[in-house]
Amino acid sequence: MSDQLPPKSAAQITADVLASFEGCSDARLRELLRALVSHLHALVTETRLTQDEWARAIATLTATGQITDDHRQEFILWSDALGISMLVDALANTVPAGATESTVLGPFYVPDAPLRQWGASIAEEGGAGVPALVHGRVLSLDGSPVAGAELDVWQNGADRLYAVQRPEAPEDHLRGRFRTDDDGSYAFVAVRPVPYPIPYDGPVGSMLELAGRHPWRPAHIHLIVRAEGFRTLTTHIFDADSEYLGSDAVFAVKPSLLRTFLEHGSGEPGAPEGVTGDWVSVQSDLVLTPAP
Ligand code: BEZ
Ligand code: FE
Repeated sequence: MSDQLPPKSAAQITADVLASFEGCSDARLRELLRALVSHLHALVTETRLTQDEWARAIATLTATGQITDDHRQEFILWSDALGISMLVDALANTVPAGATESTVLGPFYVPDAPLRQWGASIAEEGGAGVPALVHGRVLSLDGSPVAGAELDVWQNGADRLYAVQRPEAPEDHLRGRFRTDDDGSYAFVAVRPVPYPIPYDGPVGSMLELAGRHPWRPAHIHLIVRAEGFRTLTTHIFDADSEYLGSDAVFAVKPSLLRTFLEHGSGEPGAPEGVTGDWVSVQSDLVLTPAP
């Protein structure tokens, strides 16, 4: 008598793997594992994925792990470039009318930025870009000021790079934390952000090139706003005049986050302290959603 089992059909393989999770006692984990396997198996089956293609996919995942370190997060980049970060954001962060919308965090956020004085500059090196006065108020939905809110801000310089991408840059260059005053106001001096490409020298860059996609993001400043009693807000101020607003490589533009950067000549009143040449200013009120 032969102990050979009959060959399994593709559908039976999928069914067997799904059944293997029945003993998982964590219901949410069971749901996620089953959905992951269902969708991955459907992808393989529907596209009739070849062995060579699957080997290339595994090589891509391996390269993603190999290029990732404390300063480079290629997995987040995949999540961003495939629109998954924004999809998770869209499902998690619906905001009531009037509240400021969230957008992608990105891979260049470094916690524990220095706490700086109201109105101070975040540039720790000269030549970082055109000085930009960024100001506004943090408000609750009813328009009342939120005093003592924390703004955690970071941005790229005119060279297109974040400090974390330049080992020679001062660690705290172009980042800082600020607190709002009693009237909810905040101000800091940044530099006018410029469009920049997301890192494209790794697996994500190869995908973009093969797909005929560009790596550019429109000019923006990042902010995380934290305040007692409110949902933490991760957002951007986008330059309304920037290139790439219609084709952000990470799908993160929301029209409500566009702001006009006003241009000022040298000597115009209101210039930030120590600024003698041309400068810009941008105003953006940030309206927080109450914590659940
Ligand atoms: C950023 O805005 O810093 C960013 C977001 C997604 C991918 C790469 C960079
Ligand atoms: Fe950015």
